[in-house]
Amino acid sequence: MSTFPPRRDGEKWQALYAVTGTEAAEIAIQLSRVASGNIPLLALTNSYHGSYGTAMAASGGSSCRHDLPETGGVFHLQAPIYHWKSRIDDLLEMAETTIKSSTSGKISGFIFETLQGYGGIHVLPNDYINRMAALTHKYGGYVIADEIQTGFGRMGSAYWAYQMSGVEPDIVIIAKGLGCGHPISAIVAKESVFARFNATGAHKCHIFANQSIPLIALCRQIYFLHLRSQPHVRGRRMRRTFAITCFCSDVT
Ligand SMILES: Cc1ncc(COP(=O)(O)O)c(C=O)c1O
Repeated sequence: MSTFPPRRDGEKWQALYAVTGTEAAEIAIQLSRVASGNIPLLALTNSYHGSYGTAMAASGGSSCRHDLPETGGVFHLQAPIYHWKSRIDDLLEMAETTIKSSTSGKISGFIFETLQGYGGIHVLPNDYINRMAALTHKYGGYVIADEIQTGFGRMGSAYWAYQMSGVEPDIVIIAKGLGCGHPISAIVAKESVFARFNATGAHKCHIFANQSIPLIALCRQIYFLHLRSQPHVRGRRMRRTFAITCFCSDVT
């Protein structure tokens, strides 16, 4: 949890471990729905959140889909990419129209990737992310940042990609960089979200959610790669070493 910046609203972060990124997305959506009491979820075109269930339903591209019945309640909004980047006012207006026309005026959340990875490496504009977060909260939903591809310093200067926009998500999902090849993912959320979820008394996670070997890998990963040396500093050092090596091999 120490890799997450302290929350501005004073709440603490809590985590629930899972196995895959798809599972983390699935549980995060479930968490937002149970905690908010609302079903409609806003997602973006061109996004990827997972390969089955609601995570697949939330993904915004036909290449992420199988022809299977999908869980409902997902509304895709045009992503702010290509020429839409300069039409953020219009996108926000359309998002609010979708909420007002396709839902009862209450939503469970908005899921997004700060950088759409599978969608072709598109960084979403900061202004769009912040305004969508405000809109989500206005209609009773939670902001879910999918950091499965971008987290753990993979964006360079920011440890978590969402920090680049200044937005404060309510729920963050992480995987890839967490276990570095080991099957582990996590759903990190503010404590009040988990408290509402836990209050139902229903089953929360499956039997393999806290496996010891991936957890040991995770501790090692955080200790050696992240807490002892910031990834962007490390990246700079590696680039310098690489440049020196290339130069030396040229002259010898
Ligand atoms: C942004 C994002 N979300 C979710 C997933 C799904 O993760 P997994 O393949 O571990 O199920 C991926 C996988 O690449 C991803 O890039």
